[in-house]
Amino acid sequence: MDKNFLWGGALAAHQFEGGWNQDGKGPSVIDVMTAGAHGVPREITDTIEVDKFYPNHEAIDFYNRYKEDVALFAEMGLKCLRTSIAWSRIFPNGDEDTPNEAGLQFYDDLFDELLKNGIEPVITLSHFEMPLHLAKEYGGFRNRKVIDFFEKFAITCFERYKNKVKYWMTFNEINNQMDTNNPIFLWTNSGVSVAEGENAKEVMYQVAHNELVASAKAVIAGKKINSNFEIGCMVSHVPIYPYSCNPADIMAAEEAMHQRFFFADVHVRGYYPNYAMKEFEREGYNLDIRPEDLEILAKGTVDYVGLSYYMSTVVKADVNNDNLGNVVNGGLPNSVENPYIEISDWGWAIDPEGLRYGLNRLYDRYQIPLFIVENGFGAIDELTENNEVHDQNRIDYLMKHIEAIKTAIDYDGVEIMGYTPWGIIDLVSFTTGEMKKRYGMIYVDRDNEGNGSMNRYKKDSFDWYKKVIETNGKEL
Ligand code: BG6
Repeated sequence: MDKNFLWGGALAAHQFEGGWNQDGKGPSVIDVMTAGAHGVPREITDTIEVDKFYPNHEAIDFYNRYKEDVALFAEMGLKCLRTSIAWSRIFPNGDEDTPNEAGLQFYDDLFDELLKNGIEPVITLSHFEMPLHLAKEYGGFRNRKVIDFFEKFAITCFERYKNKVKYWMTFNEINNQMDTNNPIFLWTNSGVSVAEGENAKEVMYQVAHNELVASAKAVIAGKKINSNFEIGCMVSHVPIYPYSCNPADIMAAEEAMHQRFFFADVHVRGYYPNYAMKEFEREGYNLDIRPEDLEILAKGTVDYVGLSYYMSTVVKADVNNDNLGNVVNGGLPNSVENPYIEISDWGWAIDPEGLRYGLNRLYDRYQIPLFIVENGFGAIDELTENNEVHDQNRIDYLMKHIEAIKTAIDYDGVEIMGYTPWGIIDLVSFTTGEMKKRYGMIYVDRDNEGNGSMNRYKKDSFDWYKKVIETNGKEL
């Protein structure tokens, strides 16, 4: 491993900060999402209803405890921390002329605390935290005005933190929303709900276009503010395997991968891939894509590809299942289980080799550095009477994935900037809103209903990961 390899941890503001209405923060799209469970979707309510439980409102209260938590991150030896800036802390409604100073100050204080502890902040601008007002009053990224609001938010952050943050990403897992069967993705990525009678895919491509332009505008503006910035995109990478060597299965996987690659193709290359242009034409989509947008896309290409990797999936050409809207099959009607791979309690395939495979495919395709900014094992943990957590299953998962990364670097020659496992401290699950789906190496005493002391306890994986960082990945 290169000596500058960025070992770290990953989080997102809405999943751990809490303080949802503190110091002038406005409600975001996630603040109207209730808790669900495995197989039970989260409800998106119209307003905040008093008799409903919204787990992200308090989350793990990092907003009020950040010093204590950063001290633990420092003890673990993290070289970087990936988190996001909650958009509605900075622009509570999203369309104000001036930002909320208290929100900006919070991130100044946090970044100072991190830097003082030798931890470099790696920042996502938009991780499912769009101000609710933009979703409700403007229709989210359906509306081109939101491109300007996002650009303004990005410039405000770039100007303010230009000497504290070098690594940025524009939109988290922007390609999730390709799965239009599950309303959570368009809502959290873009503040968009699809109305009855609308063609969801057509809506999605318009929203995607506006968001890709917004991202490119942010990259262009960021480079002017500090030419040393490294600005990446962020995609969820789920390799899709063909079920067999039947050419029909191979082509089914190839077509499904086009859908996965679409967003990164535009972010990295700066133009629409032909397979997408053909799809727009074939389906007769009426998209507002202007010549000046295409110039912006060409100029605002990213420096690196940030990616999350949790699982792989499989497609079989002659299957047509109706179990859509399920996170695990990625909205693919022809997805089937992989008989060679075990799954987690939440049905996510555990496939370290798939990470090496995915890194190779992405690197061959784009030839720019990759940054693995999410990977981890969501599982139930038991706190013992002595306040210990023996999470050997998590250690095994992470160990095997780090081995795959080492092979990708040393054997395959893939350029990888760093590795930030997801949920370095327990937090609220995105897809289910649960606390019991834990990813952290630090346990947080809080349950699905919001009860608990919020005390923090180190799990076995804490010391294990500390050693991994200390030895730069030699000792696993
Ligand atoms: C990614 C997101 O989808 O996966 C995170 O970027 C999310 O926000 C993570 O938490 C794991 O998903 P979940 O649903 O298990 O929390």
